[in-house]
Amino acid sequence: MPRSQPTFDLVIAANRLPVDRVVDEHGDTSWRTSPGGLVTAMESVMRGRDGAWVGWAGEAGEAPASFDQEGMYLRPVPLSEDEVAHYYEGFSNDTLWPIYHDVIVPATFHRFWFAAYEAVNRRFAEAVCEVAARGATVWVHDYQLQLVPAMVRELRPDVRIGWFNHIPFPAVELFAQLPWRRAILEGLLGADYLGFQRVADAQNFVRACRQLLSLPTKGDTVSVSRAGDARRVRASAVPISIDFRGLQELARRPETVARAKEIRESLGNPQTLLLGVDRLDYTKGIGHRLKAYGELLAEDRVSPPQEMFVQVATPSRERVDAYRELRIEIEGEVGRMNGEHSRIGAPAVQYLHHSYPREEMAALYLAADVLVVTPLRDGMNLVAKEYVTCRYDEGGALVLSEFTGAFHELHQAFVCNPHDIEGVKQTIMRAIETPGREKRRLMRAMRRRVADHDVQRWASRFLDNLKHAPERGSM
Ligand code: ADP
Ligand code: F6P
Repeated sequence: MPRSQPTFDLVIAANRLPVDRVVDEHGDTSWRTSPGGLVTAMESVMRGRDGAWVGWAGEAGEAPASFDQEGMYLRPVPLSEDEVAHYYEGFSNDTLWPIYHDVIVPATFHRFWFAAYEAVNRRFAEAVCEVAARGATVWVHDYQLQLVPAMVRELRPDVRIGWFNHIPFPAVELFAQLPWRRAILEGLLGADYLGFQRVADAQNFVRACRQLLSLPTKGDTVSVSRAGDARRVRASAVPISIDFRGLQELARRPETVARAKEIRESLGNPQTLLLGVDRLDYTKGIGHRLKAYGELLAEDRVSPPQEMFVQVATPSRERVDAYRELRIEIEGEVGRMNGEHSRIGAPAVQYLHHSYPREEMAALYLAADVLVVTPLRDGMNLVAKEYVTCRYDEGGALVLSEFTGAFHELHQAFVCNPHDIEGVKQTIMRAIETPGREKRRLMRAMRRRVADHDVQRWASRFLDNLKHAPERGSM
């Protein structure tokens, strides 16, 4: 007899499960942590909460059976080859991603991509309803699943629905370009509460509802009234964070400290080790950072082996043209810089196109004197918060773009505008040259901020806002 379907009081839906299934050439299956900030944050939130996580297992084809992992019930959602191309690579990452990140690259519009987005969102909504207990809390994540809130509401009026956007929400002038803008806003308005990274993102959403749907708004709420369903939907900022205690504990371990020392030694114990850590994404401003550093090398203001620069670039969305082109551009630039400025045994830039375990990431953060974070647009940038967290020794300095969500919290960073190459150069030099005592004071203050506003507090705030969202029929 088939086992009856277990149901849960807390269900989250995100494009990816916390783990990707990897099948090797012998057909053996293993699971690997999925990339990105969403997984980093939500994994620690969900651990031990006895909830369900609905998501894609990272490869096309049939979905594996549901399974339990670290106190979570994982419910994989299948995507066909075509759906990976049209829903994930296409509409999510070649239409929405550019529009939501200030059109750093042009967005592509295809009606058949949206059709796939709709179909996959429906599949997610159905999977959510299958595992949600009566009256459950359903927490939907990110831009890939913006139609899910209304779809779940239609199927299951008994559950409470929240949605959190891990990336920016664009200004109405940009959002308005989307031929499917109405469907997306109506999809989101199926939620009881909507959370955003910054106040400006929540305001952009409310403004879009007012201007594009002609809905009445007041402060941070939108009034929705449709066939007997009259509600107010609140949209506000709840900036995401990381597991401060867990990551700090990892950074303090003797093995991590020893590995950090080993990394520095293997680089010839430079006076200053600069580090960049990003998914290889055009939003991260890696090219701008390399240009600035290249000019500093050319002007002899930095030179290996005294200064060493390590750029870790996690492979990402490799079949999307803009990402393929970015990789060629960045690797070409690294090659040029190394050709011109490396010494034997001391490359100008060490470029690593890999994913690493958390332990190695913590050791890298601990080893680096300066972390350079230069996105042109980024919802939060958890890398910046991870760096600060790992610096229990109060060492290090953070160069941070003003176009990240993190900029609105980490006020003691060395702030830069990545478009201003001269400014980035000066900021990097300030981060290198500011006396250690002053840098420790800055780092201490940033650490206090992240310790007080960690991921558990973020999750509690979100769930609290959802719980206290206006009741239905409250207009
Ligand atoms: P995004 O969500 O856009 O990828 P974030 O900075 O918010 O950006 O989050 C990135 C997450 O991915 C962080 O938790 C970071 O530690 C992790 N990460 C980045 N690069 C690597 C890498 N090369 N190997 C393993 N984890 C990485
Ligand atoms: O929020 C940023 C984000 O897009 C997440 O949705 C995702 O987990 C991460 O970046 C990595 O991207 P992808 O899932 O496309 O590899």
